Amino acid sequence: MKKDIDWQNLGFGYIKTDYRFVSNYKDGKWDEGVLSTDSEITMNESACVLQYAQTCFEGLKAYTTQDGHVVCFRPDLNAKRMADSCRRLEMPVYPEDKFVEAVEKTVKANLDWVPPYGSGATLYLRPYMFGSNAVIGVKPAEEYQFRIFTTPVGPYFKGGAKPITLRVPDFDRAAPRGTGHVKAGLNYAMSLHPIVDAHKQGYNENMYLDSATRTKVEETGGANIIFVTKDNKVVTPKSNSILPSITRRSLMYVAEHYLGLKAEEREIYVEELKDFNECALCGTAAVLSPVGEIVNHGEHICLPSGKEKMGPITQKLYDTLTGIQMGRIEAPEGWIKVIA
Ligand code: PLP
Ligand code: COI
Repeated sequence: MKKDIDWQNLGFGYIKTDYRFVSNYKDGKWDEGVLSTDSEITMNESACVLQYAQTCFEGLKAYTTQDGHVVCFRPDLNAKRMADSCRRLEMPVYPEDKFVEAVEKTVKANLDWVPPYGSGATLYLRPYMFGSNAVIGVKPAEEYQFRIFTTPVGPYFKGGAKPITLRVPDFDRAAPRGTGHVKAGLNYAMSLHPIVDAHKQGYNENMYLDSATRTKVEETGGANIIFVTKDNKVVTPKSNSILPSITRRSLMYVAEHYLGLKAEEREIYVEELKDFNECALCGTAAVLSPVGEIVNHGEHICLPSGKEKMGPITQKLYDTLTGIQMGRIEAPEGWIKVIA
C-alpha cells in the first residue's frame, strides 16, 4: 500500500524509506549485496572517507507513469558516470550492469514510496560509494561500501517553476584538470560556503565561471545550465570541468529531435549573458528550473523571459522531457527502464 504522505507538498529533503541496497568491497571483490532496513552506518574513526573525503555519488529518479508503471530514466548513464568518478578517485568500479540491477532491486523494494502519477513528486535515488577502512597516510582505502537509498522528493527550488536568481561568485568550483567532471563528494563540500553565502545575500544559486580565466560560464553547484538565444537556438557550456549532466544531454537531444531546434555545446562567455532570451538550470534534482536574473558583481542581467514564469522554449523542453519521463510522450530507444 502507498505510504500516507502529502505528496503534493514534498520539498527536496531526506525521508527514511524501508530498504536500501548495500554491497561491500573487500579483498579485491564486491559481494552480492543485500537489501537492508538499517539506515545507519558504523565505520572506523580513520575511514578514508572521513579523513580524505574518498566518496562519490549519483542521483536519479523513479517515476510513476501515466499508465501506472514505475520507471527510471537512463540509469545506465548514471552507472557509467559513477564508474568514471570511481576511476578518478582510485575507487573500485561497481560493475555497470550490477549498478542497474541494484537500482531496480532498490526501487522494487520501496514501491510504496514512489509518488503517484500527477503528484509532482518522484522517488529520488542516491547511489554512492565510500572508502571505509582505516588509513592515515594519504592513500586510497582497500575496503569500500556501495549503497543506494531512496527518498521521495518534490521540487529542488521552493516555488517550483518560478524563475530564480543566480549570482556570479568570487569562489571557483573546479580546477581545469581537477575533479569537476566527476561526481566527487569533495566538489560539493567546497560549494557549501559559497551557497550559504549566496543565500545570505538573497540569491538562489551560484553560477560558477571557469577558474583558469574567469571569463566563461560553467555550471551551478548542483546543475548544468542551458541558454536560449534570440534566434531560438539552445546552447550549453562546453567545458572539461563541469559534470556531464544526463538531463542536459537528454535536453539537447530533445531540442534537436523533438522540437526541431538547433542545439549547440560551445564555450559561453560572461559577456554574452545579456544577449540570451532564456536561461535555465538542468539536472535530476533541478529538472529544468528557469532563471530570471543573473547578478555579476553589481551588473544585473534580467532575462527577457521575465521573473514570473518559464520562457516559451524552456517550457517546451520541460514539457517534452517530463512527458518522456512520465510516459506521455514516446521515448527514444533505451531511455526508459521499466521497473514495475
Ligand atoms: N552538475 C552538478 C554539479 C550536479 O551535481 C548535477 C546533479 O546531478 C548535475 C550537474 C546534473 O546532472 P544530471 O542531469 O545527470 O542529474
Ligand atoms: C542531482 O540532481 O541528482 C544532484 O545530485 C544535485 C544535487 C542534489 C547535488
